[in-house]
Amino acid sequence: MPSLLITNAVVVNEGRRFEADVLVTDGRIAAVGGDLQSRPADRVIDAAGRLLLPGMIDDQVHFREPGVTYKADIASESRAAVAGGITSFMEMPNCKPPTLDAEQLAAKYARAAEVSRANYAFYLGASNDNIDAIRALPVGDACGVKVFMGASTGNMLVDDPKVLEAIFQDCPVIIATHCEDTPMILAKEADYRQRYGEDVPMDAHPLIRSEAACLKSSTLAVDLARRHDARLHVLHLTTARELALFTPGPIAGKRITVEACVHHLYFDQRDYAEKGALIKCNPAIKRPEDREALLGAVAEDRIDVIATDHAPHTLEEKAGKYFQAPAGLPLVQDALPSLFGHVQAGKLTLEQVVHKTSHAPAACFNVQERGYIREGYWADLVLVDPSKPVTRSREQVLYKCGWSAFEGRELPATIAATIVSGEVAFEDGQVNDGVRGQRLAFGPTR
Ligand code: DOR
Repeated sequence: MPSLLITNAVVVNEGRRFEADVLVTDGRIAAVGGDLQSRPADRVIDAAGRLLLPGMIDDQVHFREPGVTYKADIASESRAAVAGGITSFMEMPNCKPPTLDAEQLAAKYARAAEVSRANYAFYLGASNDNIDAIRALPVGDACGVKVFMGASTGNMLVDDPKVLEAIFQDCPVIIATHCEDTPMILAKEADYRQRYGEDVPMDAHPLIRSEAACLKSSTLAVDLARRHDARLHVLHLTTARELALFTPGPIAGKRITVEACVHHLYFDQRDYAEKGALIKCNPAIKRPEDREALLGAVAEDRIDVIATDHAPHTLEEKAGKYFQAPAGLPLVQDALPSLFGHVQAGKLTLEQVVHKTSHAPAACFNVQERGYIREGYWADLVLVDPSKPVTRSREQVLYKCGWSAFEGRELPATIAATIVSGEVAFEDGQVNDGVRGQRLAFGPTR
């Protein structure tokens, strides 16, 4: 593999910001220092004026392969991911068939090895009847076990109390949960159908998929984890009220961690008027006060990780009325640039964004040798131009579904280049389609 020298970058890493050169050989970071310019390299990138960050590790994406590839596939969405500065992704099991056993997991890894432009890992899904597959899962064969404790796209609800107890007691790896109480949601849906028929307004979504439904389910997950001393990661928190379930502080030593997603930090209730079904997602985007509280909780290390929950659907599907329009939006290309908006607004520091998108997911999932700019680690890097805002337009969109909820919005930074395991996977607006990511390696998390 050709060596690469990145000079004059402002490196943002592990809470520090400093000017340095970074030498990459054999896919790994060989040296980080102020005086590497005389070192030989096959290629030199002068990064003056740009920021060099460890690539984002996105712990929650839906790439729809196998079975739902008219919406997205691993090749198309991993291209969009590297264009957005994401160097590694962890992908969810609600495809067709759902990823419920070792064989389906192995098939996904084999497919990703062929086509993924970013580094990859996959979750094993839980169901009401695959506890044996969960118990038998070797560490490293999945990034975690995904448990839909609330039903969403793909009908993977786990609602048998005995099965939930067994999962939290025996799961050999980190448990990642979707928390929304389905019976409460179904009751609200029935209410709204009675009041509005099929014409339920889109901004009723956070009232149907309510704060109370989120709180009930996340409280149950936390209770199960505490009783069984399980390693729990609650995905996509959306309400201020749930924050009391989690503790501020570093990830080391936490048995229960929690994630927020970029769209819940960016959009709020007021955006339904303009964006409608495009921002319909589960759990729902909620009130401005919730968004503010989530940002505050990220800043105080109560929320541990920022991810995307990238969940593409076609525009035709999104054109449906409330009950027909599927939940979820594509995000991987827009995520990191959108987070720079919180830095610009003084809500988060750049060091916090790097921590939450790279160091923290690496720590939570015990990802081996990635997530930091450290000598000897894999060279997963992103060069960001903070002086080049970009207004997202449909022509720029790389998602297979062909649209972004950020269209028309100015994102304050441009991803200049993305380096995946030492190879330049994206540069100056172009994806390098020759690059393939690697399978992520994990240490124990239980
Ligand atoms: O909005 C969502 N979309 N939430 C989920 O939990 C699933 C996802 C999807 O797969 O479409």
